[in-house]
Amino acid sequence: MVDASRMMLQRGRVFYRQKHLLAIEGLEPPAISQLLELAESYVLLNRSGKTQRDLLRGRTLINLFYEDSTRTRTSFELAGKRLGADVINMSVSTSSVNKGETLIDTATTLNAMHCDLLVVRHDQSGAPNLLARIVDAAVINAGDGTHEHPTQALLDALTIKRHKGCIAGLTVAICGDIAHSRVARSNIHLLTTMGCQVRVVGPPTLIPAEVANLGVTVFHDMAAGLDGADIVMMLRLQRERMSRGQVPSGREYFRFYGLDWEKLGYAKPDALVMHPGPMNRAVEIDSAVADDPLRSLIREQVEMGVAVRMAVLDTLSRGHGRNEP
Ligand code: NCD
Repeated sequence: MVDASRMMLQRGRVFYRQKHLLAIEGLEPPAISQLLELAESYVLLNRSGKTQRDLLRGRTLINLFYEDSTRTRTSFELAGKRLGADVINMSVSTSSVNKGETLIDTATTLNAMHCDLLVVRHDQSGAPNLLARIVDAAVINAGDGTHEHPTQALLDALTIKRHKGCIAGLTVAICGDIAHSRVARSNIHLLTTMGCQVRVVGPPTLIPAEVANLGVTVFHDMAAGLDGADIVMMLRLQRERMSRGQVPSGREYFRFYGLDWEKLGYAKPDALVMHPGPMNRAVEIDSAVADDPLRSLIREQVEMGVAVRMAVLDTLSRGHGRNEP
């Protein structure tokens, strides 16, 4: 399957023509579809236990994480190793350094090491774009501040497509802490571009006014926001990015916005539940819903993450891109 996809990419048109993957915003539907098709073939390859270790042999992938991460970092590491790359993990604490200077210094150092693929997570929105202007490597945004998290949106789309058979025409409710969520922003761009009706649902303090300009409908009430939804995507309450008083106690929040069976009942009878993780159980989601194998896609999202990152590394390593981000 992977070989077939590669031939399709080599012979046919290549729709993803950027050197980097910094954001979903601005990608056209054919580029997104092509990444998802290639990722689908990697799901099958991974499940069959076969490997594809020649593709990135001799290439170096550096995971540069300025923020904590479990699933995203390990997922990129596994994806790189499955394709035969040399993978180096760098965890950098930003607590005591001047971030701007350090980022540029680090980029200069990494460039001297001739790294081919640079995966970056940073608490400042725009940090991966800055690095992309400095280094020769292809840069992949693994989450920057409250801006974007493009591979999360791609893995969410792949998960949805595999269960619903399509993406266009679905109603997706993204619920909770929209204000601090780069996952929400990337998903809004991807899902609206691919023809979904996207709703955002949450308390007014956690939904910035400008979100309404992104082609979504805003709801402050779960009953109305989930009514007729095909997909209910819950988000973590990101207290580490909040100023005081933005939300009440966890218990109070759960009462109004936490997903339990009762609130899921407002959505379509076959609605599926997603969460990018890590979850605050009993704050934004009830364990009974999160762990229900018939309704929850949360574990599968993690599996799709590896396949999507393999597809992204594969695509960028071919170097079809122009030299600007
Ligand atoms: C998300 C992130 O880091 O943006 N997590 C992830 O990548 N799986 C969401 C979050 O931290 O809540």
